[in-house]
Amino acid sequence: MTAPAPLLTIFGATGDLAKRMLLPSLFGLQRDGLLPPGLRILGTARSGLDDAGFRAMVAEAVASQVPAAERDQTALEALLDRIGYQPAALDHAEGLAELAAAVAARRDGDVVYHLSTAPHWYAPVCEALGAHGLAGAGTRVLLEKPIGHDLPSAIAINDAVARVFAEDQVFRVDHYLGKEGVQNLIALRFGNALFEPLWNARHIAQVQVTVAETVGVEGRGEYYDGSGAMRDMLQNHLLQLLCLVAMEPPSQFEPTALRNEKMKVLRSLRPIGRAEVEADSVAGQYVAGAIGGRAVPGYLEELGHASDTETFVALRARVDNWRWKGVPFYLRTGKRLPRRSTEIYIEFRDVPHSIFDHGQARLQPNALVIQLQPEERIALRLMTKTPGLDRAGLQMSQVALDLDMQEEFAAHRRRPAYERLYLDAIEGNGTLFVRRDETEAAWAWVDAIREGWHQAGMQPRTYPAGTWGPGRAVTLAERHGHAWRE
Ligand code: BG6
Repeated sequence: MTAPAPLLTIFGATGDLAKRMLLPSLFGLQRDGLLPPGLRILGTARSGLDDAGFRAMVAEAVASQVPAAERDQTALEALLDRIGYQPAALDHAEGLAELAAAVAARRDGDVVYHLSTAPHWYAPVCEALGAHGLAGAGTRVLLEKPIGHDLPSAIAINDAVARVFAEDQVFRVDHYLGKEGVQNLIALRFGNALFEPLWNARHIAQVQVTVAETVGVEGRGEYYDGSGAMRDMLQNHLLQLLCLVAMEPPSQFEPTALRNEKMKVLRSLRPIGRAEVEADSVAGQYVAGAIGGRAVPGYLEELGHASDTETFVALRARVDNWRWKGVPFYLRTGKRLPRRSTEIYIEFRDVPHSIFDHGQARLQPNALVIQLQPEERIALRLMTKTPGLDRAGLQMSQVALDLDMQEEFAAHRRRPAYERLYLDAIEGNGTLFVRRDETEAAWAWVDAIREGWHQAGMQPRTYPAGTWGPGRAVTLAERHGHAWRE
């Protein structure tokens, strides 16, 4: 007897995310024989395509996103064989009913619904699935970020979804959790005995989390302008990274244990409100500049109208618990920065007493640098003796024990985040997805900062594209004796 075949239904299947990420990831899984046998994939969107038209779109997405050396005609055909399409206007009861019929007709085993649409569709789509009896046991729903645009709207969405799906059926996507480098952060912390004894305020002086992008808002201007860096990146990706760095060791690598620990960190975040925003936060917006020698326009020129949306944000966050008391967590993210880099920088405290402080021998603090993007690298920065006779005393240099993950695992393909996330969702493993309380705690913290900006009349400060944000971001760290890593 063959196992019942699961069904993956993708809403927003002709959208940008589907073309760039979702469909190419399904191809990668198909090519490596990782999709469950019998899995059916149903795409749905407003476009009036038929099965053949959608399959042609999938083939095009694979051709444009997957490097030639990784393409494979047999795998592509096998993927296309699994795929069907049902046009549906989600604001029409009739469209939803036809879609429900299409799902019911293909349903055999579990069903995963992936809502890759604007978040205002989440409630009506879930309600319709419930009303058509398509949300019971064996079904799961994947929700893309953003879950709303603030705490009240997130609660409204979560409540509406919860009327139809139990929390363990809801998989909130933060694609950073699907990245190899992010999972490696968990592996590094909890797979080595070396770090844990040092991983606290007694030994760590500061932590920096940077997610820098060189891109502007490219074609997503209207979405981005209603969101800004704080809601688009910090509320989700940066806070998830902060949680993974700061959390206590979970007792197991499973959804409840891991998410409970992340939740404790979110609850320990010291609020940044009206009284603190001016000292502990900086918002920026890029103006025309140059990146890698190429002139790029400013945000307002790209957007085509006036706006006070921030394209950069830097914060000094604090985690008020025993482990982290007094350690600043500097967070920053922005568009049109000098280079693409996602990095966690952990700086250790100085040696208690230096026997080398003479001439040029100043000691620099040890640091662990975990680079997640564009390449995965782990570097441990140490002080060593500079070779030479050193008649005036030892000369010291900072050097790095540098692990290039690409080189170390040259035979392994770097898998895009959605390959991992789709497989986990199909198998019903929520470890790398975000729980309701996490999303809401993150919104509550971020909303207070935005409210503080509003009360203080803070406007984003400009920075030229190709620089590391407004000058104020530098002083944010310098005031506390720290410097951003560039
Ligand atoms: C998305 C944001 O969540 O993450 C985008 O909406 C951003 O604005 C993107 O560009 C960055 O993701 P990645 O995987 O390129 O680091």
